[in-house]
Amino acid sequence: MSHAEDHAGTRRDFLYYATAGAGAVAAGAAGWTLVNQMNASADVRALASIYVDVSGVAVGSQLTVKWRGKPVFIRRRTPEEIEAARAVKLDELIDSNSENANKPGSDASDANRSLDETGEWLVMLGVCTHLGCVPLGNGSGEFGGWFCPCHGSHYDTAGRIRKGPAPRNLAVPVAKFTDEAKTTILLG
Ligand code: FES
Repeated sequence: MSHAEDHAGTRRDFLYYATAGAGAVAAGAAGWTLVNQMNASADVRALASIYVDVSGVAVGSQLTVKWRGKPVFIRRRTPEEIEAARAVKLDELIDSNSENANKPGSDASDANRSLDETGEWLVMLGVCTHLGCVPLGNGSGEFGGWFCPCHGSHYDTAGRIRKGPAPRNLAVPVAKFTDEAKTTILLG
């Protein structure tokens, strides 16, 4: 399978996830588990680490890949998104922990959430920390980041929870660039 086909398949899966998530409001976490099991093949779930080609991700867009059976959002942020995220003071945040597996225990400043020093790249699990629905992206919600329609959780442009029932920021998984040109990310 080519990369293009692979990405297209991932996007189709993501649309299905999103639709199922929105429709499964009452089912919450149980609904997500069911959908998750229906979509992720056993070999994909079992993969501990994957390489993701991000060379085709334009500024202002997001790639969604499946990793360990969960959606992972890889967003290449615009300067405006970075600026908005970095202007937020820590005492404005609901969850002051970065929730970043690469920097355990650090605060939720934007610099501790993003993958690279410029802040252009943000990698997060696409799993709402309330009951596990898949949030909508592309500037969704009141804070211009992601919005979970299941029960109305708003995340900012750094994926930090700002309003609604979700208790924690979207989790940042173990991830790193494998090359200086920033074309490939290793997840896990
Ligand atoms: S699952 Fe309830 S707000 Fe996201």
